[in-house]
Amino acid sequence: MKGLILSGGKGTRLYPLTYTSAKQLIPIANKPVLFRVIEAIRDAGITDIGIVVGDTAPEIERAVGQGGQWGVNITYIPQEAPLGLAHAVKISEDFLGQERFVMFLGDNVIEGGISTLIGQFANSDYNSQIVLTRVDRPQEYGVAVLDDKGSIVKLIEKPKEPPSDLALVGIYMFDHHIFAAVNAISPSWRGEYEITDAIQWLVDAGHNVHAYVHRGWWIDTGAPGDMLEANSLVLEELTPTLEGYVDRDSEVDSRVTLEPGAEIINSVVRGPAIIGKETRLVNAYVGPFTSIYHHCLIENAEISRSIVLEHSQIRNINRRIEDSLIGRNVVVHRSPIRPRAYKFTLGDNSHLGLLGNDGE
Ligand code: TTP
Repeated sequence: MKGLILSGGKGTRLYPLTYTSAKQLIPIANKPVLFRVIEAIRDAGITDIGIVVGDTAPEIERAVGQGGQWGVNITYIPQEAPLGLAHAVKISEDFLGQERFVMFLGDNVIEGGISTLIGQFANSDYNSQIVLTRVDRPQEYGVAVLDDKGSIVKLIEKPKEPPSDLALVGIYMFDHHIFAAVNAISPSWRGEYEITDAIQWLVDAGHNVHAYVHRGWWIDTGAPGDMLEANSLVLEELTPTLEGYVDRDSEVDSRVTLEPGAEIINSVVRGPAIIGKETRLVNAYVGPFTSIYHHCLIENAEISRSIVLEHSQIRNINRRIEDSLIGRNVVVHRSPIRPRAYKFTLGDNSHLGLLGNDGE
C-alpha cells in the first residue's frame, strides 16, 4: 500500500499563524502535526508516501525532506490551488498507480495510530474503507448512513437533520476505482472537488465502500481551539522524560517532559506539559496542558493550557495567560496600555505589550 498526505490548502481558520507558515507544521506537544501523520502511516508499515503541497511547499519540503529520518520515501505532489480533497487525489494518480492507498489529512490527529484499520483494509476486498467516529454535533460534519453489514449507503455533508452521529474522519482508504470517481464528479457550490461526492459516486456505481468506526479521539486541528484540545490529549498520552536542568528552588511534577537544554529556574511546572529544547523558565509557573517549544523564555509570568511556538518570550506579566496559541518570535511583556483580559492567537513576529494589574 501507499500513503497520501494532504498538506496543501490555505489554513484560513488559523490566520494569522498560517499567513506565514503551513498549519501542518504547527507543533502539538512539541512535534509538528504533519510529523505525527507521517509516523502513524510509517507505523502501519507503509513507506512510500506522497505529500500534496500548495503555496507552503518550500517550508514543508525543508522540514520533511526525503523522509530519511522516518525511514520512508517521500514524493511531493504540487497542487496548483486548493481545489478540493478529490482534486488532490486526481493529481496523485501517477504516483499512486494501481496500488491501494490510505489518504490522511495532514492536519488531523488520531488516537492510537492507524495500523488496525490499514490491516483490515489491506486484507479485504473492499474498494474503499472510510473512517467514521461518533460526534456530538453531526450537523457540522460529513455524515454517513450505513446498512446492516457496515457498508456505506449514503454520505451527507453538514446535514440539517443528521441521519446518524457517525462523522467522516480525515482518513480514507481506496483502490484504483477512486480515479474514475474523481474524474467523473463536478465541483460543488463552493468550487471544490469534494471527496464525499467521489465516495458517493463509488457507492452509486456498486463498489464496496466499507465503514470503520474509530473508538478513540480524533481531532481536525483546523481552528485554534482544536489545536489546544489536541495538544491536551496528546500531552496526556506522552511518556515523560527529563533531559533538562531543574534548579533546587523549582518544582517539576512527574508528568512533565523537559527536552535537552531546557532550564527551570525558581519555577513551578505542573504536568502534563512539555518544555522544549533550550527554553528557559525563570520565576515562572507553567500549568497543565501547556507546550512551550524550543528557544523560548518565560520569565516572571504564568501560563497554562496553551501552546507557545519557537523563539518567543513572555516576560513580567502579572496575570495568568490561558487558552492561548502564541506564534514564533513573539514577545509578550508588560506595558502601560489597557487591555484587561488575556486571550491570544498571535501571529509570527507579533510583539504585544500588556498592562499590569495596578495600571503601572
Ligand atoms: P481543510 O481544512 O479542509 O482546508 P484548508 O487547509 O484550506 O483550511 P481552512 O478551511 O482553514 O482554510 O483541509 C484539510 C487538509 O487537506 C489540510 O491539511 C489541507 C489539505 N488540502 C489540500 O492538500 N488540498 C486541498 O485542495 C484542500 C481543500 C485541502
